[in-house]
Amino acid sequence: MKLNDSLVERITSANQQHLLRYFDTLSEKEQSDFAAQLEEVDFAALPELVENYVLNRPRVAIPDDLGPAPYYPLTPRDEAQKKLYRDAVACGEELIRAGRVACLTVAGGQGTRLGFDGPKGTFPIGPVSGRPLFAYFAGGIRRTEKKYGVKIVWYLMTSRLNHEATVAFFKQNNYFGLDADQVFFFTQGTMPAIGYDGKLLMNAKNSLALSPDGHGGTLLALRKSGALDRMKRDGVDTISYFQVDNPLVPVVDPKFIGLHRLTGSQMSAVMLAKTNAMEKLGNFCVSRNRLQIIEYSDLPKELAEKTLPDGTLAFIAGSPAIHVIDRTFVETLTAGGKLQLPWHRADKKIPFIDQNGNPAAPESPNGVKLESFIFDALPLAEKTMVLECDRAEVFAPTKNPTGVDSVESCRAMLVDRDCRRLAAVGVEIGAGALVEIDPALAVDAADVADVVAERKISAIAPGEKVVIQ
Ligand code: UD1
Repeated sequence: MKLNDSLVERITSANQQHLLRYFDTLSEKEQSDFAAQLEEVDFAALPELVENYVLNRPRVAIPDDLGPAPYYPLTPRDEAQKKLYRDAVACGEELIRAGRVACLTVAGGQGTRLGFDGPKGTFPIGPVSGRPLFAYFAGGIRRTEKKYGVKIVWYLMTSRLNHEATVAFFKQNNYFGLDADQVFFFTQGTMPAIGYDGKLLMNAKNSLALSPDGHGGTLLALRKSGALDRMKRDGVDTISYFQVDNPLVPVVDPKFIGLHRLTGSQMSAVMLAKTNAMEKLGNFCVSRNRLQIIEYSDLPKELAEKTLPDGTLAFIAGSPAIHVIDRTFVETLTAGGKLQLPWHRADKKIPFIDQNGNPAAPESPNGVKLESFIFDALPLAEKTMVLECDRAEVFAPTKNPTGVDSVESCRAMLVDRDCRRLAAVGVEIGAGALVEIDPALAVDAADVADVVAERKISAIAPGEKVVIQ
């Protein structure tokens, strides 16, 4: 086939002619697949990207007026705030009951960092049952539905790396008790990897080296996939957003959702007090009255370590990546099918084909992958809200096999949470007992109290391993 002239012109103007080196040697099918891939690349924007992000290393600009972000504290400051929180719970419950809330999970990542080959959400995290991460969220959704008598649609973002495996996993597991049409899978976009010389890398004669475009890609992918249309049709205006690596997260938190609505926020965020200055959490900051998150790797050490007179960290607020987002905010941001969030550069070892068309696996980084981050939408919002939550109730990330933020620490936190809720209603927990409550039974302490009363649970024997289901 012959490539269309305008595409060739765009490729040439962007100085990327090498992409066509093997084109004439490809089969008809390979040619048309590759042409379709090339059509998706914004060649007009490429020279600037190469200049700003590859040939030059982007510096995250730290504004002079950068300060810590204000937030609503976990413990209400006064009577008025106490009342506000009570009203928030009521408002959130009303929104859920009215079917105005949907869940959104970013699950484009693989389990690679856990030494696990497959979509991260399929990782068996259950401390006793080995149930996968996805089952925690599905269970939470089922319980919430039952509690409020509604149907909640779960928008699940995959990437090209794991879409098919994810969908197949849900089918195999009967959608974890949800209806098939209640799980809306959509795939995030991709970005071509760029070699240090500014040329797009190819991983085959008929393919670019593509990688997921970061969870900032969620917003545009929501529009392109028809997810926003579906939400609108369903009467959903409030999106409860969380990451696939955190099974402790309440999938829908009435207080957080209600406070988002009552404060008129377009995009809200949960914050946790950081455990130490260098904890690997994004940092909530403000500059010129706009909320922003500065990634842990980008906040200068002197700011991260800065303390207040009482010795606490000035930049205490860390992000567990839990948000509430207005559907209409996403619609506005992505109007016209375009959304410009800043790119973040990651230097990577990217397999490629060399000049002779042979595959090569570099031993040191040879290029740049660009990702956008969803939290970079925060400064674009007219109104935002940050709410402090209790870490032990909302955040147990599974990022590493052992140590901090690991499979081990996550399982321990899941067990602790369930034991805490059981002990609160008088259940005796024997030393070394491992307890797991089916997430479809309980999303809060009140649910656990009901389960305990119904089943007359009074004690868990020392060392016992039990799944309450
Ligand atoms: C992330 C946040 C950090 C936050 C921390 C909380 C970023 C850049 N940083 O760090 O501010 O404090 O979580 O745990 O996100 N994902 C996709 N598609 C992509 C990239 C990521 O779906 O293209 C998903 C992953 O599946 C995962 C989540 O986004 O659910 C986070 O990605 P990860 O790379 O693990 O971010 P962290 O560095 O852990």
